[in-house]
Amino acid sequence: MTRVFVTGSADGLGLAVGQRLIEQGHEVVLHARNDERAAATREAAPGAADVLVGDLADQQQVRALAEAANASGRFDAVIHNAGVGGGAGGDALLAVNVVAPYLLTALMQRPDRLVYLSSGMHRSGRAELGPLEGRGSLSYGDSKLLDAALAIAVARRWPDVRSNGVDPGWIKTRMGGSGAPGDLDQGAATQVWLATSDDAAALVTGRYFKDSAEESVETAAADEAFQDELLAVLERVTGTPLPA
Ligand SMILES: NC(=O)c1ccc[n+]([C@@H]2O[C@H](COP(=O)([O-])OP(=O)(O)OC[C@H]3O[C@@H](n4cnc5c(N)ncnc54)[C@H](OP(=O)(O)O)[C@@H]3O)[C@@H](O)[C@H]2O)c1
Repeated sequence: MTRVFVTGSADGLGLAVGQRLIEQGHEVVLHARNDERAAATREAAPGAADVLVGDLADQQQVRALAEAANASGRFDAVIHNAGVGGGAGGDALLAVNVVAPYLLTALMQRPDRLVYLSSGMHRSGRAELGPLEGRGSLSYGDSKLLDAALAIAVARRWPDVRSNGVDPGWIKTRMGGSGAPGDLDQGAATQVWLATSDDAAALVTGRYFKDSAEESVETAAADEAFQDELLAVLERVTGTPLPA
């Protein structure tokens, strides 16, 4: 049995991943933005061990969430799934898609496995760190390029942790829309596999997956100097270093 924490699991892929992990007999802690969403999450996934609460757009709440997660015990795997789409605006993209996964990674007890939700749209993203420091704004694709780079940066910094990025495919969710070709089973499978499987192919680090198969990441996200700069800027803007 694996103990797994899934962020942004009140709906969509996060909830689907949580439900599948529970079905497989794992101990699953879910996460919602507030008490009302947490109640809905408990109803949708009654087998969850717990549902932690915190709005990822609010840095103080992200820090409190990390504390609550640590108080609940170390996780074997953490899936950084929560995300907002382009319609949410630059500030939310930055806070929820980029700063929150970094801060939770830095503040939570180190798990054995980390999974970061990126997207095929990272391929049209810019490797641009200015928006993190208030210069210019971030697009959805930009934020997902930073997620892919963060997964690999953490893998390099922490060789004892398996840290990988995932493109779940274009999936029918609130974000993906009803016209998306993929269903929730397809959209959840790679994250569940990376978090729990002992297949040799899942026991790797610093990679990027789609449909449980490795893909290359966009060159900018694979650039080690860019990854180091990303960690340095995130450390500066949050005042929280990624522990060595
Ligand atoms: N669906 C796709 O086609 C697709 C493709 C590529 C990548 N992705 C990535 O996959 C991940 C999941 O996407 P999805 O399609 O499942 O999206 P979704 O259906 O919109 O679900 C997003 C989840 O994140 C939570 N969330 C958003 N902002 C939050 C905040 N400030 N605090 C706490 N929780 C917050 C939402 O909570 P509420 O329900 O309370 O809002 C919801 O549970 C995202 O990172 C997305 O970028 C999705």
